[in-house]
Amino acid sequence: MMTCESSEKTWTPTAIQERIRQLGQWFHNMDLRGVRTAPNHFLGDYPAFKWRNFENAIPSDLHERSVLDIGCNAGFYSIEMKKRGADRVVGIDFDEVYLEQARFAAEVNELDIEFRELSVYDVGALGEKFDVVIFMGVLYHLRHPLLALDLIREHVVKDLIVFQSMQRGSDRIFETAADYPFEEKEIFNDQDFPCAYFIEKKYSKDPTNWWIPNRSCAEAMLRSAGFKIVGHPEDEVYICKADPEYRESGAVYPAGREMNS
Ligand SMILES: C[S@@+](CC[C@H](N)C(=O)[O-])C[C@H]1O[C@@H](n2cnc3c(N)ncnc32)[C@H](O)[C@@H]1O
Repeated sequence: MMTCESSEKTWTPTAIQERIRQLGQWFHNMDLRGVRTAPNHFLGDYPAFKWRNFENAIPSDLHERSVLDIGCNAGFYSIEMKKRGADRVVGIDFDEVYLEQARFAAEVNELDIEFRELSVYDVGALGEKFDVVIFMGVLYHLRHPLLALDLIREHVVKDLIVFQSMQRGSDRIFETAADYPFEEKEIFNDQDFPCAYFIEKKYSKDPTNWWIPNRSCAEAMLRSAGFKIVGHPEDEVYICKADPEYRESGAVYPAGREMNS
């Protein structure tokens, strides 16, 4: 476990520029005291432009609250949460290269954030529930997306989860019936029916894109994992609460149960 402490070192623009270069390819195009981490990013000012679309949907004051940022990458959202006063922010990612970037970005911002190398499938090992969980841009990178949502619900969500997934296909919602007879086949030709596209090869040159849901599927998966959708501030972003009436219905990989018992 590593913690980013405020650094005594004065980071000049030249020193920041050099350290950014040493830390490899950046996916988060952040502004570190006027120096851009990924000035040629294919999405431009990402994730800041996305953040502006839903920042008002999250409490502006996070004092006395804890935050877990799953798949934190270079820590853009962890940093925004800490700036809102969160007592404790933990960012996890399974890629140490991104975590090093995150530690540096937090250091330059003089923010105390804990970054840990951990897969979403191992969130049980944290042994702790968080007031706010951020799960942005990770679902479609997973071979087992519903398992990840089940684990997150069971092990780390105390109250609020901010979820985002790339979506493709229909963007209309579909009210499914409680059940369908075995003979019903036509329903599966409806583009709006909950559906996730399986990417066997690559999408957008990225071999780690596995399952891309349409809108009704993304929403159905959230409900199925025990989340109540309370906000939809942006096309791909959902604000959810742990549904108190949820009764666990599926098998949940028991990561952490032994470790924490
Ligand atoms: C598209 S980026 C999204 C980054 C950030 N959350 C955002 O919304 O800008 C996906 C991130 O998820 C991380 N990731 C992918 N699979 C993961 C896993 N199984 N456990 C933890 N992190 C994972 C990647 O390393 C990467 O940093």
